[in-house]
Amino acid sequence: MTKITENEFEILKLGNPILRQTARELTKEEILSSEIQGLIPKMWDVMKNAGGIGLAAPQIGISIQLAVIKLESDSERYDNLENSEEFVIFNPKLEVIDEQKQGFWEGCLSVPGLRGYVERPRKLKIKYLNENAVEKEVVVEDFLATVFQHELDHLFGFLYVDRLNSTKDLVFEEELTNIASEKLLD
Ligand code: NI
Repeated sequence: MTKITENEFEILKLGNPILRQTARELTKEEILSSEIQGLIPKMWDVMKNAGGIGLAAPQIGISIQLAVIKLESDSERYDNLENSEEFVIFNPKLEVIDEQKQGFWEGCLSVPGLRGYVERPRKLKIKYLNENAVEKEVVVEDFLATVFQHELDHLFGFLYVDRLNSTKDLVFEEELTNIASEKLLD
C-alpha cells in the first residue's frame, strides 16, 4: 500500500492515472488494521479542509475501496444541504431502486473550479462495510443519492465528467449562477 504513513495528503487532479484505476477491495482484517483505522480520520481532515462533502481514497493516491461522505448544512461549496450522518464506506455494492434520473450541478475536489450538470438515478441501495468492518445497508435518494454515486464512481475509475450528457453541461463555478436558473426550467 502506498503513502498511508504520510501526514499530508495532496488531492490528485483529473489526469492523474490513479484516479482512473479500479481500486481494490479490503478484507475485514485490513479494515480493522491500525494502518486503515489511522487513515479514516485523515480522510475526514482532508475532506473538511478542502470544504468537500465527500472524499474517496483514490483522490489522495490510495487505490482502495474507501470513501467518506458527510453533507454539511453550512457547506461553502453547496447550498441548501441538510446535515447527514457520517458515512465511512468500504467495498460498496450499488443497486438502483428508482431508475428515474435527477440532475444536479456536481463539483469535485479533483476537478477544481468546474461544475457539471449530471443526471443519475434518483434512489439506490448501497451495501458496504463500515469502519468497524460491519456489513451495512443504506437506501439513499435525492442529492445524497447523487453524492454516493459520485464518490463511489471514484472507486471504479470514473469522474463526473464521464457522466455528462454533453460537454455544454460543463462550466466554471463563477458562471454557474447564470446557467443554473435555466436548468431549473428543464
Ligand atoms: Ni469527486
